[in-house]
Amino acid sequence: MTGMKSFVALLAAAAAVVNAVAIPPHHEVHEKRQTLHPRWTKRDRVESHKLFQMRIGLKQSNLEDGYRHLMEVSDPSSPNFANHWTSEEVIEAFRPSQQTEDEVRNWLIDSGIPAQRITHTENKAWFAFFATAAEAESLLFTEFHEYEDSVTGGVIPSCDEYHVPKHIRQHIDYITPGIKLMAPVESHREKRAAAMAELGIESRSVHLQQHGKAPPPTNPNDLSTCDQLITPACIAALYKIPPGTSKIRGSSLGIFESELQFYAQKDLDSFFTTYRKDIKNGTHPIGANIDGGMQSTKDLFQAQAGGEVALDLQLAYPIVYPQEITLYDVDDFIVQANQLDTYTFGFNTFLDALDGSYCNFSAYGETGNQPGLDQQYPDPAIGGWAGELMCGVYKPTNVISLSYGGQEADIPVSYQKRQCLEYMKLGLQGVSFLYASGDSGVSNYPPAFGGTDGPTGCLGPKGNIFNPTWPGTCPYVTSVGATKVYPGYTVNDPESAVLDPAYPPYSSGGGFSNIYPIPDYQTKALANYFEKHSPPYPYYSALSPDSSEVPDIAAIVGDSDGIYNRIGRGIPDVSANGDNDAVYCGGSASAFGGTSASAPIFSAVITRLNEARLGAGKKPIGFLNPSLYANPGMLNDITNGTNVGCNTTGFAAVPGWDPVTGLGTPNYPKMLAYYLGLP
Ligand SMILES: *[C@@H]1O[C@H](CO)[C@@H](O)[C@H](O)[C@H]1NC(C)=O
Ligand SMILES: *[C@@H]1O[C@H](CO)[C@@H](O)[C@H](O)[C@H]1NC(C)=O
Ligand SMILES: *[C@@H]1O[C@H](CO)[C@@H](O)[C@H](O)[C@H]1NC(C)=O
Ligand SMILES: *[C@@H]1O[C@H](CO)[C@@H](O)[C@H](O)[C@H]1NC(C)=O
Repeated sequence: MTGMKSFVALLAAAAAVVNAVAIPPHHEVHEKRQTLHPRWTKRDRVESHKLFQMRIGLKQSNLEDGYRHLMEVSDPSSPNFANHWTSEEVIEAFRPSQQTEDEVRNWLIDSGIPAQRITHTENKAWFAFFATAAEAESLLFTEFHEYEDSVTGGVIPSCDEYHVPKHIRQHIDYITPGIKLMAPVESHREKRAAAMAELGIESRSVHLQQHGKAPPPTNPNDLSTCDQLITPACIAALYKIPPGTSKIRGSSLGIFESELQFYAQKDLDSFFTTYRKDIKNGTHPIGANIDGGMQSTKDLFQAQAGGEVALDLQLAYPIVYPQEITLYDVDDFIVQANQLDTYTFGFNTFLDALDGSYCNFSAYGETGNQPGLDQQYPDPAIGGWAGELMCGVYKPTNVISLSYGGQEADIPVSYQKRQCLEYMKLGLQGVSFLYASGDSGVSNYPPAFGGTDGPTGCLGPKGNIFNPTWPGTCPYVTSVGATKVYPGYTVNDPESAVLDPAYPPYSSGGGFSNIYPIPDYQTKALANYFEKHSPPYPYYSALSPDSSEVPDIAAIVGDSDGIYNRIGRGIPDVSANGDNDAVYCGGSASAFGGTSASAPIFSAVITRLNEARLGAGKKPIGFLNPSLYANPGMLNDITNGTNVGCNTTGFAAVPGWDPVTGLGTPNYPKMLAYYLGLP
């Protein structure tokens, strides 16, 4: 067998020399592989009759205009504030030009691909067609070989370089199959499992701090114990939020869940009974299950109720009620159970379900979901979602709260940037995304607690560089940090940045992106911070280039001994309470915390503000950041506390924006007056 195989390979090699592709003079190399990652091995030439699904990515126009378009509808000084776009308008604005479509189609037809075989994807970004290997080779003046992945054993067709007519190059992004081999992202699964097994630690949800049992107060309206336990009454008092009254159709608050976070109705009922008797037993979210997602523990034991979903629902309901909550539960059971293998959390499959055009959206050399990082559907696993990937099946709610996330350093740059553009597109359509900023200050958790980044949770060869969280660093979402009422203080005193010094310390995620530059809406706030409160640490000023790999921190930092980036987008944008929050979970009364609590609180406040705007005949606010930074006076500025990490005290909360608590916590009456005053 072995001898036979090498004989065939030899023959193929000889044939390749004889047939060396002659490139016509009006053609040029479009893409050429520079180096082959050692995990891949080039094997035999693909047999000429093998069928490929070819995709030609068309250059989309105007993606670089996305920021400007988004500001037009979210900058409060713009005459078009809140004048959001329809999804069709978004597709139209970014679709490839007619000339691009025509020229590429003509080239394909002239090269012998029958017109009826060519389809144009719904988002207009791709031509797709089936072609034999022989057809693909003659179209692209190349040779396709099988490439074997030593990690997964998978084989995919690829070439070293391919050619297209000179005049076509400007119209296409890239072609698959082509030179692209699935980005060799190291799976975290083994590393993580090994680290945890060694320490005898079970997997736990990110962003969830549990501080054990806390008996509920005898009087739910008693504000004298808010320094021990934050009840719904404490939150209402802190942010001056009056009870809700209206329930405008289609204005429910969206909450994202995954990682087996199923709620128990009994927990909700106990919570309502204890703290908010006006909310009837049985009140539950509108279910929006995505790719096999599941809502509640109905069919399980109450003890299996998830802490994250309990926290999210029980912080949001008292603020939005009688308005409803829509619970997006993302990915099938099998995938949810292993969501931390890749640290991508199901955000891509979630966005697919909200916007069908994202399923095939192509940017930064990536199209659709990434095998190896995102789950592919139908899921072949037993018990997995056997249906097709859900594309555009749910209209997004106006506000979406997500208490999940990881570190920028662990996810390929192109993957993050492509997803970030989708937040821009949904922002144009009026959707506000609020992400928890993370619970580990300026660092990641150490490996024993679920972190993936070295022994310290920090970056660089010395393990001392600050490690910002993702996706909050995307400039098109709102990142929410956490505050706390310290013992001895009341709801009438200013809150402080959260700090729970137990190991590993819990503090508000904050810092500066290594991928995204400072967005215009934030320039003034950051300049003020650096000018008046420059942190006492060396810094660097550099951003990762576009890349299909994870950010290369050593390359970004270079010779500098800096430990944080001075030219990256700052997070968080705002904050809200995130410690000692009263929650019923798994049948018992507890006090939970985390920026996981802060995100649903702030999101619920925005839902109420939208409700008021809708009631006044206006549109929802949509992308929040430009209006927040334009009027920081409507937030309670937090000026005490720090976010420890990386063997430092972290950054300090100071007057004005800071990378611990952002602009501050909600002051509902001031925010209401401001947003009702906008068009
Ligand atoms: C995405 O592309 C695939 C094949 O290329 C196609 O079958 C599917 O309909 C497309 N989906 C959308 C929403 O355009
Ligand atoms: C609501 O449910 C809780 C928890 O199961 C229970 O203790 C309480 O008695 C119920 N209230 C009503 C009015 O049924
Ligand atoms: C300021 O924050 C620290 C923790 O960083 C806390 O111990 C202290 O009580 C806070 N002071 C006030 C006035 O809340
Ligand atoms: C933390 O900093 C102290 C001094 O500031 C130093 O002695 C210690 O080695 C550092 N620890 C780590 C893990 O870097």
